[in-house]
Amino acid sequence: MDNLMNKIVSLAKRRGFVFPSSEIYGGFGSCYDFGPLGTEMKNNVKDAWRKEMTRNQESVVPLDSAILMSPKIWQASGHLTAGFADELVECKKCHRRFRKDFLEGDKCPDCGGELTEPRKFNLMMKTFIGPVQEEGSEAYLRAETCQGIYVNFNNILNSMRLKIPFGVAQIGKAFRNEITPGNFIYRTREFEQMEMQWFCRPETADKFFEYWLESRLKWYSSLGIKKENIRTKEVPKDELAHYARRAVDIEYKFPFGWQEIEGVHNRGDWDLSNHAKNSKQDLQYYDEEKKEKYFPHVIETSVGADRSFLAFLIDSYHEVKGGRTKTTESAKEEEVMLKLHKSLAPVKVAVLPLVKNKPELVKKAKEIFQMIKPELSAQYDEIGSIGRRYRRQDEIGTLFAVTVDFDTLENNDVTLRDRDTMSQERVKVADLLSVIKEKLNV
Ligand code: GAP
Repeated sequence: MDNLMNKIVSLAKRRGFVFPSSEIYGGFGSCYDFGPLGTEMKNNVKDAWRKEMTRNQESVVPLDSAILMSPKIWQASGHLTAGFADELVECKKCHRRFRKDFLEGDKCPDCGGELTEPRKFNLMMKTFIGPVQEEGSEAYLRAETCQGIYVNFNNILNSMRLKIPFGVAQIGKAFRNEITPGNFIYRTREFEQMEMQWFCRPETADKFFEYWLESRLKWYSSLGIKKENIRTKEVPKDELAHYARRAVDIEYKFPFGWQEIEGVHNRGDWDLSNHAKNSKQDLQYYDEEKKEKYFPHVIETSVGADRSFLAFLIDSYHEVKGGRTKTTESAKEEEVMLKLHKSLAPVKVAVLPLVKNKPELVKKAKEIFQMIKPELSAQYDEIGSIGRRYRRQDEIGTLFAVTVDFDTLENNDVTLRDRDTMSQERVKVADLLSVIKEKLNV
């Protein structure tokens, strides 16, 4: 793995962002767990997306549909047929399997052996429902969250009394039996998607495609992703997914190359019309004013929560040569800081007593920590020199450090240190929360 990726993976584990799954049993192929800070940060990514979609945009409602659904859905959507399959080749010598489109040559990249002819490999994950594992009890873990949206189209329309155009946004787990997972949490078999389906009149689909593409690009820059690290790529016609009429990938410049983080798709009426045909339900929309019925077309925005998490983590990673906090160790080496956007940083405030062997200081610092904690994600840290503790907080992207010193006991004020500017100001304890909240804009 690339040097930068190695550093990210190691920081992620050491500081509680991402752990390899089932580690005490030797790990479990390309599965990962989000640690305490990773959970906070991934929730922040999801909150930022949810807020953007259901608050900032007009007419987008949320949904939380089940992971397990009738297998008929996957039949109708085309996922159980050749549409949702990758081409798999196997090395005749070492028997490793690869996705054909990921290979550069026609020999095994590991041992140089001859490869088999490609065969289609379906990516749906199968399971069984109920106590008997027989044919009729087969079900699938959803491979994309959006199918739950299409099959609830009438429910949402009727219960919310919506008019076209409108959108439905959903965040949830999806599963794919990927042939070649890899690059840390970039490609895994269990992942989380944040998907929005925009239902519109067919003749407005092109216009809305452009609108959503631009809107999604703005979202990344509003959360601090550097412009030079993001680009779009029109998906060639012969590479389009089975449901798509048009697709543009939003790509991020990962250390392992430019790779997709989000797809904007024009799905036409593929899903609604296929579900109508297979379920024999009327999934057309009735336009009261025009007195006409039609299948709305769908513009979809689909982003991986884990993939965008990785992009945000990488983009925020900075090494400062010679150190910022001037601890003895840092003068010799680099200090790491995560310049995460304020809404994504897993810890907003660290509360640090200047020394830990003065009970009055510790008591006061703990009181201040208890005051902040219910309102903002906070950490209390008393171990090591103050410089070291700043350094530890910079490494996880903590936005503010509150230092409680002897003057605090006299004047009831603290030093508030800003991660990015390293400026320090004295703030009255009584004003502390409101000052921090104002800076955070919450
Ligand atoms: N509903 C459309 C759809 O699922 P997709 O391009 O297959 O489209 C959309 O997936 C997004 O989901 C991708 O851009 C990526 O962010 C995420 N994603 C897909 N497969 C993934 C995997 N195996 N691991 C992590 N994220 C994945």
